[in-house]
Amino acid sequence: MDTAATKGGLAPFSLKDAPALIERVFPAQKVGAEAQKERKAVQSQTLTALGSYWKGRKPLSLVRACVLASLLPATDDPEADLQTFEALMRMDSAGVLRRSPVLSAQDVWDSAAVSADEKLRHIEHPTTTGGRNDASSDDADAGGAARWIRLSGLPTREKKLIEKERQEMSARALLAMPFAEQVARCKRVENVEDLGDPNDPLYAGVWIIIGARLGTASRNLPDLVRELGIARYGHNPTVGDPFCGGGSIPFEAARIGCSAFASDLSPVAAMLTWGGVQHRRCQRRTARGYRPGATARRTCGCE
Ligand SMILES: C[S@@+](CC[C@H](N)C(=O)[O-])C[C@H]1O[C@@H](n2cnc3c(N)ncnc32)[C@H](O)[C@@H]1O
Repeated sequence: MDTAATKGGLAPFSLKDAPALIERVFPAQKVGAEAQKERKAVQSQTLTALGSYWKGRKPLSLVRACVLASLLPATDDPEADLQTFEALMRMDSAGVLRRSPVLSAQDVWDSAAVSADEKLRHIEHPTTTGGRNDASSDDADAGGAARWIRLSGLPTREKKLIEKERQEMSARALLAMPFAEQVARCKRVENVEDLGDPNDPLYAGVWIIIGARLGTASRNLPDLVRELGIARYGHNPTVGDPFCGGGSIPFEAARIGCSAFASDLSPVAAMLTWGGVQHRRCQRRTARGYRPGATARRTCGCE
């Protein structure tokens, strides 16, 4: 039995009979919005273009949501369970704000969460300038009707204060939007996270909240997945996909700390899955300073 991940955290088998969160609460609409964003990324999806073509390939964000919601326990407080799940998926307000959101001046102008006074102080809009395209506005928003009032010429200190104020207005405008629109303005979680890093700013504050709520000791997602697996089954959680297709299920399961198995009738699908796993392994080793030799590069095909 693996006990490494449970030091000071959940005891092995302590969640053996606990119902899974996915049986009680699952924010399907929010998870769907994340999955759709991933799908729309087309060539920028993590697995290869050929893999994304494979019919029925599951979005990685959906796979992550299902694995986490199957491991997390459901308690008698569904509201808190949902908060725990959304914090881990970085779908809660704090998470969304850390996913490098970009809002245009028009987004902020259109928001009811920003006062008219704030808008007039920071944004130039045809309705306030008589329809002229004033040259004193920022070119960054050239495509939209509203523009941030240009700050060039102001002392640095004053500029910083105004930028901070604009960030705060933008955050308010973002959080007042429907979730799908928030996600559309943010990066995908997998593009901003550093999964193994206990100090990853994307997850700042999350591990303390999760620890207080679940009694876990983990400080990153793969460790938490292992800890929950040991608390449920006495070992690392195992995910198997006997119809793996493009391989997204074993890929994401392995990425967040599960042991993963896969098979497929089609040798093309099996090769895509193998390629995805090799690519990930190569990326992780390269991140740790490993420089593959020519043979390894040929085998992996990453370079
Ligand atoms: C819809 S795709 C799977 C998608 C995959 N789970 C994913 O998320 O990317 C269905 C796969 O099942 C495979 N398949 C169909 N019949 C099979 C069989 N009898 N044994 C193994 N694989 C099979 C097909 O080759 C195909 O790749």
